[in-house]
Amino acid sequence: MTKKLGNRDLRRPRNILVVGNGGRENSIAWALAKDKFTEKIYVSPGNGGTASQRKCIRLKTDSEAHESIIKECERLQVDLIIIGPEAPLAAGLANSLRAAGLTVFGPCKNGALLEASKDWAKRLMVENNIPTARYWTTSSEAEALEILHHYGKPLVTKADGLASGKGVTVCESINQTKKSIKEIFSGKFGQAGNKVILEERIEGPEVSIFALCDGEQLLVLPPAQDHKRLLDGDKGPNTGGMGAYAPAPLINQKELIEITDLILIPTLNGLKRKKINYIGVIYAGLMLTSSGPKVIEFNCRFGDPECQALMPLMGDELGAVLLSCARGELKNSPQLTFKSGFSACVVAASKGYPESPQTGDKVDISLESNSSVQIFHAGTTINDSNNIITSGGRVLSIVAQGESFDEAFNLAYKSMKKVNFKGMQFRKDIGYQVRDNKINN
Ligand code: AMP
Ligand code: GLY
Repeated sequence: MTKKLGNRDLRRPRNILVVGNGGRENSIAWALAKDKFTEKIYVSPGNGGTASQRKCIRLKTDSEAHESIIKECERLQVDLIIIGPEAPLAAGLANSLRAAGLTVFGPCKNGALLEASKDWAKRLMVENNIPTARYWTTSSEAEALEILHHYGKPLVTKADGLASGKGVTVCESINQTKKSIKEIFSGKFGQAGNKVILEERIEGPEVSIFALCDGEQLLVLPPAQDHKRLLDGDKGPNTGGMGAYAPAPLINQKELIEITDLILIPTLNGLKRKKINYIGVIYAGLMLTSSGPKVIEFNCRFGDPECQALMPLMGDELGAVLLSCARGELKNSPQLTFKSGFSACVVAASKGYPESPQTGDKVDISLESNSSVQIFHAGTTINDSNNIITSGGRVLSIVAQGESFDEAFNLAYKSMKKVNFKGMQFRKDIGYQVRDNKINN
């Protein structure tokens, strides 16, 4: 039976706080605004696009100031908090908010170890027979070099801790592997590199799988594909992600069920055995190898920019579903519906991204989000003259939906022409894997 107070459905959140300042958080807020029961969406600290989004209000509370966030949530009668990025999760923001009696979607500090310690995540995989690449962990440079010597082939090196997506090097040669090991141990990633994971190199297409989790049950979303390299043809340096699309046809419904049984359920069971009540997103980054899917990484939150591609496909029940997860009651949740069709996301980044992004340039936009094309800000802010200014590497993303990937990408690229800032760069070939007319922009 639906719980009601007056004519209010208590399963649906009225006031929501989204923590984070990226495109991911803008897209979550945009999707939540579609529920007519939801009145206000606070985004903290948000970005230059937040205030222009429907129902959205920017709060500039620092995510490290747990007490201030608690006070704001009480004052504003927030009934659901969604924590977007990994750093506040790894720092225990969800623990502090729950301890204050607030309802949170996002794992506790221990759950966030899934992303915050690659060694911890690898052990969880091994303990639970979850397929992943062979690996060695060590805290000693000499031992790392010894392992490399015995292995006799290039390895993938990974700093154990959070390194803003930069801690992994897929080495092409033994010499590069040696160099990378030495860099990690000489402090390139600070404390995150106190331990190093050396991993065998595996091959295959990559796909991102997201499961919403209430501690007991999982709800798996359509798969998405990211584009990590900066340049067309998957060339250039690794980035946070230059574009995405969903649903990724790399995996069909039957395979998604197999992956759920092989990877997601054992992960959740492994977390439960460690007495972790995991509430939030389990993000499994998979490589589809010739010997089956293998986990490359786990993250404890939605992927960015995969989230931007996925959110417009979510039904209006999203807020209610996330609230049910946060309450540990996914079984009582309204069913999450997914729109049919295809979603395409293209990221516009600033000049110099990812090494040294140029910021402070004015962004001209003559486009408003609607039901088939959306603009989600990321590295933007608003200056004293009320202009939108670039403030980060990935500046914004354009997302579009269509009856086919060609339609979706054509609309996204056409809409990209309505955005401009000095030095703007974006890939022209996002979705090349699923598009027929590849040169239409
Ligand atoms: P991550 O920062 O963990 O997302 O890793 C960055 C990228 O490195 C992944 O998207 C993969 O393309 C690549 N990668 C990570 N681990 C491996 C591996 N064991 N073999 C081959 N490529 C890998
Ligand atoms: N898109 C990759 C990530 O969010 O880690």
